[in-house]
Amino acid sequence: MQTHEIRKRFLDHFVNAGHTEVPSASVILDDPNLLFVNAGMVQFVPYFLGARTPPWDRAVSIQKCIRTPDIDEVGITTRHNTFFQMAGNFSFGDYFKKGAIEFAWSLLTNPVEQGGYGFDPEKLWATVYLDDDEAIGYWQEVAGLPLERIQRRGMADNYWSMGIPGPCGPSSEIYYDRGPDYGIEGGPEANEDRYIEIWNLVFMQNERGEGTSKENFEILGPLPRKNIDTGMGIERVACLLQGVDNVYETDLLRPAIDLMAARAPRGYGQGNHADDVRYRIIADHSRTAAIIIGDGISPGNEGRGYVLRRLLRRIIRAAKLLGIEDAFMADLMATVRDATGPSYPELVNDFDRISRIAVAEEAAFNRTLASGSRLFEDAARATKATGASRLSGSDAFTLHDTYGFPLELTLEMAAEADLGVDEEGFRALMAEQRQRAKADAAARKQAHTDLSAYRELVDAGPTEFTGFDELTTEARILGIFVDGKRVPVVSHAGREGVHERVELILDRSPFYAESGGQIADEGHISGTGSSEAAKAAVTDVQKIAKTLWAHRINVESGEFVEGDTVIAAVDPQWRRGATQGHSGTHMVHAALRQVLGPGAVQAGSLNRPGYLRFDFNFQGALSDEQRAQVEEVTNEAVQADFEVHTFHEKLEKAKAMGAMAMFGESYPDEVRVVEIGGPFSLELCGGTHVGRSAQIGPVTILGESSVGSGVRRVEAYVGLDSFRHLAKERALMAGLASSLKVPSDEVPARVATLVERLRAAEKELDRMRLATARAAAVNAAAGAEQIGGVRLVAQRMAGGISAGDLRSLVGDIRGKLGSDPAVVALIAEADDDAVPFVVSVNPAAQDRGLRANDLITVLGGAVNGRGGGKADLAQGSGRGAAGIDAALEALRAEIGRS
Ligand code: ALA
Repeated sequence: MQTHEIRKRFLDHFVNAGHTEVPSASVILDDPNLLFVNAGMVQFVPYFLGARTPPWDRAVSIQKCIRTPDIDEVGITTRHNTFFQMAGNFSFGDYFKKGAIEFAWSLLTNPVEQGGYGFDPEKLWATVYLDDDEAIGYWQEVAGLPLERIQRRGMADNYWSMGIPGPCGPSSEIYYDRGPDYGIEGGPEANEDRYIEIWNLVFMQNERGEGTSKENFEILGPLPRKNIDTGMGIERVACLLQGVDNVYETDLLRPAIDLMAARAPRGYGQGNHADDVRYRIIADHSRTAAIIIGDGISPGNEGRGYVLRRLLRRIIRAAKLLGIEDAFMADLMATVRDATGPSYPELVNDFDRISRIAVAEEAAFNRTLASGSRLFEDAARATKATGASRLSGSDAFTLHDTYGFPLELTLEMAAEADLGVDEEGFRALMAEQRQRAKADAAARKQAHTDLSAYRELVDAGPTEFTGFDELTTEARILGIFVDGKRVPVVSHAGREGVHERVELILDRSPFYAESGGQIADEGHISGTGSSEAAKAAVTDVQKIAKTLWAHRINVESGEFVEGDTVIAAVDPQWRRGATQGHSGTHMVHAALRQVLGPGAVQAGSLNRPGYLRFDFNFQGALSDEQRAQVEEVTNEAVQADFEVHTFHEKLEKAKAMGAMAMFGESYPDEVRVVEIGGPFSLELCGGTHVGRSAQIGPVTILGESSVGSGVRRVEAYVGLDSFRHLAKERALMAGLASSLKVPSDEVPARVATLVERLRAAEKELDRMRLATARAAAVNAAAGAEQIGGVRLVAQRMAGGISAGDLRSLVGDIRGKLGSDPAVVALIAEADDDAVPFVVSVNPAAQDRGLRANDLITVLGGAVNGRGGGKADLAQGSGRGAAGIDAALEALRAEIGRS
């Protein structure tokens, strides 16, 4: 049975049973604790927690999931994918254990002709959490499973959570027995390769807090209702129903293997296990990479971008090790699109961008590999020169760490060069690095706020945002928090100079809480009635659990008491600036797309009064003309005084209208759309905006830069700040013109002439210096000292002489000293405190045991310098002209000793 059929049957089975089909969420949701969506339930977390009311009691979805902790298992086992499709049915307070078991069992075992998967019931096993006798009862009653095919397992296997605080509960898993070819008997408890897990039914009933592992976390208490969350692995079911050995050979992944095998010297499945693993890695990772890029991530050095980079690089390295030398990424991505596209149209629609990003990373990594190969050759040569037979662990580590060489690649290259590799040394360094990374991660975790203190308020309902219509709102204080702890009162007295995080939670607020790139409003909150004296400045506003506004304040006078009525007032000046910044961002975005094409998709943004920053996907730098054009289009649209129109619309409809959504953002069913100038700019956005585009004022683009592979950034000033910026530039220009004594438009030509003249003058000066030095050299030779039968010229030279000039002067002087033992040492006092020095020793002096490379060390000692060379000529450089006399004295003493 083909994958698309497996998907369809799953959806049909549950839709027929009253479930609403919900589309997959992006693999990126805006939870900073979760790198990628790793289960079907993630988009439903607020429903399980009771923070939001689910629109339906039953849902079904096939969610795009990314799990990378097991990345090293990919291709080695038969069942690990970094991307997989999780099919799941969900009950929000509706059916529970019995219903979940019935639904799963009937779909798995119903005959194929009746819409099921037709699994042989005799081959299915179940596991349950240790004491879950209830589930055992249903497995017997509903499925007729005999007790010997039901196993009890502990927390690590049968108690499910997302690995972070959130909903959790005991689970029951369904396994399929692949038979004795795949391992020993004894059920899932004995062997998970033979007994392969296909479906996990989670009885979602508790909420977990922080913890250290799958088996060790705090259970905070029961959820408001009992729910069902299940996950069936589409790839694993496909593997079984298609009768193939492993998930990588199923219909959606196999084409990538075949594509690569046709280009490699050694094919797939020809008895070389290491090669087969490489093919499977390529098939698995290429699909994951396409999905991640599709959801808006570009390769980078941190977080999600780093995961993507790692996947792409593992593909490229695997291909290298398979002996594929030519570029292949574009074809590989096209293969992924053809296989996966029917279920994921975004891969087809957005293919050009996805492919471009993957191909750019291929090119970049190939360049890195090329420089790594040069480093390898140098290291190999140096190793052989010392007579060693193994490349050092630290060389192998540098190749890995800086150039991305896996150890196996270094081993192979070393073997070709008749060398071994100190693998133990390499591993020790790797372990050290892992230790450091762990310590870093632990330090970061500490920084997360514990949100459980706000829980009660989150449950009580959201803060009502009034700020689209008014800037001043009467509100009630629902809660007061100091450093995350709830307190009944906060007062000014005794707070001076104390650094605490004081937050007020209000039932209604005109303050915009930071989101969608717009930073929070500033303003004041003051008391009313008997607490009129209370006044606080609002310095930041953040959303908690997306629904509750936490106003961070400095209490300036009086005291605030929970339950008090207060007046919350946004600083109107601030808000005007903020709306200019945010509307300006939409204008720049629209202009960029007009000038650069629709591929210039938003990757991030930040705006505050007077300033905006906008990141977007684009390969290569913008040309000066493109930049100027973006600025021109933006300002024309400002000048056109377009009306800014905001309205609410169904998500699908808004998207169909062409509204720009941020990749990776999750949107509710109904969204707010901001339209400026009809088709010119249409975006999904919850921000605050000007009423008409002319209110944005002038927009000045400050610059354009790179913020990672394939992502560019423009920064701009808007409104009065834009004007001030231009006024400052004009003043600068006027100042320049006046000191150069030309009209401003002649400044560039004037500066160019001056630079040229300066260069010519410097050249002339250098020439003169050298001529003077040469003349001095002749005198120096004549006045050479005699130390114990050696003629010595040891001199300090005036500034401005380069190391190259010093060498040639030393040669001149030495030539004039004749063939008796002679040493020449020159040391210069350069302008920037650098002290270059050169020593030359003629053959007769060398016969007396003097070596230039020894003498250079003597000189260097006194001027904080180092150097090297041969017996006849050596040079070095130090810092600190103060030591020059001492250096020359030390040299005389050394020669005297010879
Ligand atoms: N959320 C459960 C899992 O991911 C179904 O296994």
